[in-house]
Amino acid sequence: MTTRITVALGDRSYPILIEAGLLDRAADHLAPLARGRTLAIVTDANVEGHATALHETLAAAGVRSEAIVLPPGESTKSWDQLAALCDRLLALGVERGDHVVALGGGVIGDVVGFACAILKRGCHFVQIPTTLLAQVDSSVGGKTAINTRAGKNLIGAFHQPALVLIDPDVLDTLPDRELRAGYAEVVKYGLIDDPAFFAWCEAHGDALIAGDRDARLYAIAHAVAAKARIVAADEHETNGTRALLNLGHTFGHALEAEAGFSGALIHGEGVAAGCALAFAFSAAHGLCPTEDAARVAVHWRSVGLPDGLAAAGIGASGARLVDHMRHDKKMAAGTLPFLLARGIGATFLDRTVDLADVAAFLDAQPR
Ligand code: NAD
Ligand code: GLY
Repeated sequence: MTTRITVALGDRSYPILIEAGLLDRAADHLAPLARGRTLAIVTDANVEGHATALHETLAAAGVRSEAIVLPPGESTKSWDQLAALCDRLLALGVERGDHVVALGGGVIGDVVGFACAILKRGCHFVQIPTTLLAQVDSSVGGKTAINTRAGKNLIGAFHQPALVLIDPDVLDTLPDRELRAGYAEVVKYGLIDDPAFFAWCEAHGDALIAGDRDARLYAIAHAVAAKARIVAADEHETNGTRALLNLGHTFGHALEAEAGFSGALIHGEGVAAGCALAFAFSAAHGLCPTEDAARVAVHWRSVGLPDGLAAAGIGASGARLVDHMRHDKKMAAGTLPFLLARGIGATFLDRTVDLADVAAFLDAQPR
């Protein structure tokens, strides 16, 4: 059975279809968009097996496609790779009315989405996310970006996809560590405003990670519905609603920066540790029950995700971590908005947090 969720954005609304085995039936949805032309499928080398399967399924349905295979990893979100990708798409003759397919994780989705935002002043694209993180977060909502020497995601555009196809079965080839990291973004939706979903994660997180198909389908559909609601309410992150999705990201970003944005700490692991720190900071300031902060930490430990600085392997001082935060692109007029919590499912934005206080809190955390 297909779950269909709509991102309601007026004439730019689009469907997200979620179904086990959907990749095998992707031609049903892509053939009408191809309109007899060759579809470009952009992927990375680790996802090539799925790209080949998609190419074959399209060919069987009479749809021509051509794969563009980029190197895997965060470094693909670069000016050089963007330029090379645009050149390849132009050489393929992609027109403004065409749809380019992004088949991969958040890296592929972000760079392909940005290329499509600027190619011929904008062409369409379809997201077929292949990591859990991309399925529950980055493929929905139209944030596209590349990195520069000055920082992550600093160059980009809002450019919504025309369609998102989510097949949880592609996660079977995803490395276990990437799956767990993506799971942090699933739990995040419960922590933000949905305590019942957090309780569901406590009960079923292990099964999801172990490969239970029903658990994966339920969690992905639940998370995507939440993301679609948030994006429809605040597409361009201007009224404080979409900013809630940054829970754990300010602390997490500092840890990722300290780890050099390397394999030592991948994004979802930074988010997990960051959420634990945001709850611990809230509890330390009497905003949130200590039991709720403890529940967050216990859940991360139970699924093998870092619950703080020590587990994330970060030994840096509070001052040094806060210095990383000062380079956050959300910094405005000398203040940094923090997502804090009054409890599980009760996250709020606080623009009054004193960075010296954050540094002292971090110094007091176990290393
Ligand atoms: P990723 O795209 O680098 O994928 C992680 C790894 O898994 C890569 O090595 C990739 O090759 C591999 N992989 C992907 N799918 C696979 C599969 N099915 N089987 C085997 N290997 C597979 O990373 P990610 O975690 O998906 O995304 C992280 C990126 O997403 C970051 O650049 C981040 O900034 C961005 N992001 C964007 C948004 C947004 O709203 N646009 C939101 C969150 C994160
Ligand atoms: N991943 C955060 C957002 O889409 O706003």
